[in-house]
Amino acid sequence: MSGDWTCVLDLGSSKIVALVAEPAEDGGVSIIALESAPCKGLKRGAIVDLEETARTIDALARKLSAKFGREFTDFVVSAAGPHVEGTNAQGFKEIIPRNRSITHQDVMEVIQHSRSILLAPDREQIQAIPREFRVDNQRNILRPVGMTGGKLEVVTYLVSNQTAQVQNVQRALNLTGKNLEQLVLGPLASGIAVLTPEELEIGTAVLDFGAGKTDMAIFSQGSLAYSCSIPIGSALITSDISKLLKTAPEEAERLKLESGCALAGSVSEQEIVEVRQLGQPMARPMQKRVLAEIIESRVREMTGMVKGQLEKSGFQGLLPGGFVLTGGGAKLDKCDVLLRSVVGAYPVRKGAPDIGGDLDPFGYGVAVGMAQFVIQISEELEPIDGAQSWQDRVKSLWSLLKGKAE
Ligand SMILES: Nc1ncnc2c1ncn2[C@@H]1O[C@H](COP(=O)(O)OP(=O)(O)OP(=O)(O)O)[C@@H](O)[C@H]1O
Ligand SMILES: [Mg+2]
Repeated sequence: MSGDWTCVLDLGSSKIVALVAEPAEDGGVSIIALESAPCKGLKRGAIVDLEETARTIDALARKLSAKFGREFTDFVVSAAGPHVEGTNAQGFKEIIPRNRSITHQDVMEVIQHSRSILLAPDREQIQAIPREFRVDNQRNILRPVGMTGGKLEVVTYLVSNQTAQVQNVQRALNLTGKNLEQLVLGPLASGIAVLTPEELEIGTAVLDFGAGKTDMAIFSQGSLAYSCSIPIGSALITSDISKLLKTAPEEAERLKLESGCALAGSVSEQEIVEVRQLGQPMARPMQKRVLAEIIESRVREMTGMVKGQLEKSGFQGLLPGGFVLTGGGAKLDKCDVLLRSVVGAYPVRKGAPDIGGDLDPFGYGVAVGMAQFVIQISEELEPIDGAQSWQDRVKSLWSLLKGKAE
């Protein structure tokens, strides 16, 4: 960390975002710098081109250094994609002698116990987030230190990543002389940035509709309960348009951004768009509805997978906060309406972080949420003796909720 400044990098499938932030006086975070650069080094959140990724990180870091006249060396980095998995785990510890006060050491030991699940040899844990403690079967305890009881239990949300991917991120940073400070689950950060404290509490899903994937996280009772990555992002819509309308990818992207709509039925048959097809000297008029049909088909596939994940999560009917759509892809006209029609009776809204200025905030939720996670969540439980690496860090979301609600 550079002084009081926290530097984060969101490694996206279309761009990398670098953000520098510091604690704000009101308990929130204040953004000092926000830079982004297009990057083709990642696919669905996984590094596929190490040099391109390192080059982009280097360019962003140089920009920041030039702006502030200082070096930035340590970065908190996002982790998301089908290779990142989360699971709930339980830990247990007997308190001996019974009825002595529960200590910080006990809390760390019970969390450590929850982390002793077996992972495939090519995976490693990158985050452990305590969700709930139980003392002598009394549930929903947030801070057990100082309480008395004979049995301490914890439910944690454990996040794991492919070791090769962790190493690739480390390598990309090292190539530019930077260090990996911590990996933070991307959809966790999106949720922190765009959900209200009430939504985090009552049960709400955040959907980060990115370029290469759509990350989903379910929050309930103030903590992360489920996460997954759906392998369909907005770039796939562009490639569908390009293939089906026989256009260059740039023209397909322009059509999507300027005239795209996720609900073909809402587009009048009279509406026309000009399409420049490959090999044709002139742009040709085409029904806008045809474009919408191509887009709808892919968004329907994505939202169908969201519905499937909702069923798998066990939170069906348990999300009074419904869905919040964020990420660059969420700017697509009527994607919220289509999602509502597919998932059923849930409220759906679009949401983006408050970043001030003229910048479009969609697509910056992960970077902002990571900074909030690192800065605002002061309730960091120090690792017990011997555990030194960033993988052993444990943070809970309670202080963020408390801070926001006050
Ligand atoms: N108005 C718009 N309508 C539809 N799609 C849009 C719009 N604006 C941006 N997008 C799409 O959003 C995507 C970029 O979103 P975002 O910046 O959230 O992705 P990313 O973080 O780079 O990728 P990922 O999170 O999948 O790794 C691009 O595919 C872009 O075409
Ligand atoms: Mg993203």
